[in-house]
Amino acid sequence: MNVCRWPLAGLLLAVSVSTQAADPAAVYGKGGANSAAMACATCHGAEGEGMAAAGFPRLAGLSADYMKKQLADFASGERANPIMQPIAAALSPEEVDAVTTMLANKPRPQVERISRAAAAEGVGAVLALRGAWERNIPECVACHGPSGVGVGKAFPPLVGQSAQYLSSQLIAWQQGTRKNDPNDLMGHIARGLTEDEIKAVAEYFAGLTDTGAGK
Ligand code: HEC
Ligand code: HEC
Repeated sequence: MNVCRWPLAGLLLAVSVSTQAADPAAVYGKGGANSAAMACATCHGAEGEGMAAAGFPRLAGLSADYMKKQLADFASGERANPIMQPIAAALSPEEVDAVTTMLANKPRPQVERISRAAAAEGVGAVLALRGAWERNIPECVACHGPSGVGVGKAFPPLVGQSAQYLSSQLIAWQQGTRKNDPNDLMGHIARGLTEDEIKAVAEYFAGLTDTGAGK
């Protein structure tokens, strides 16, 4: 009988280890238990601030639910990305919970809230604050909040992201590689924008400066 008991004990031990709560700092800084879940810090920066020049987005201060949805969408291919797909697929649900909760609690950029009534000069500001209703394009701040600070778990912040990342996402929606938005809200908007408009509106949100009040 003894010979049989030991493998069973080993199995029980393995099960209890895999359901243990994950250490978010370890997942973020060193990677997940599955080695394909590479350390997030390598690309998203030590504090989740992102790497503007490389187009790696900021994660600090994003809603945990939004990030969980994105990780599920990367894993399923609804949001197709060759870098994030294998990483998202390799994270356990416990690791996803732990790392997104930790990142959501980090400071978000603090910006002056610009109201929709403010003067809008230039193509980017006009799209952001007024939209282009003659083409059925609502102003970005209607959903993403004043100055693009983000609203709840569905509407991510635009401020705090680099122009390169913001425009890459609008282009992904145009090309259909990102199709994970509810009711094609963003797909419809992105397909209506010209290349110059994408560049201008991305630069508008990337250019809103952090007052540092949240640090
Ligand atoms: C090798 C670089 C790399 C590593 C490592 C990496 N990421 Fe990413 N991540 C990216 C890139 C590039 C994107 C943007 C993908 C796109 O264009 O859709 C991204 C996007 C994301 C997004 C979506 C953000 C948004 O605003 O929609 C989340 C969430 C995310 N990563 C979480 C993680 C987590 C958690 C880890 C660690 C387990 C991680 N990433 C590791 C490169 C990386
Ligand atoms: C009707 C509501 C709505 C409007 C208006 C809107 N958005 Fe969005 N946007 C969304 C939603 C919802 C998402 C998140 C989709 C998802 O779940 O991945 C999103 C996501 C984004 C993202 C991806 C952010 C990230 O972290 O990956 C960018 C970039 C973006 N929107 C830019 C814009 C711009 C620029 C405008 C104005 C021209 C705009 N949006 C107007 C609803 C809206």
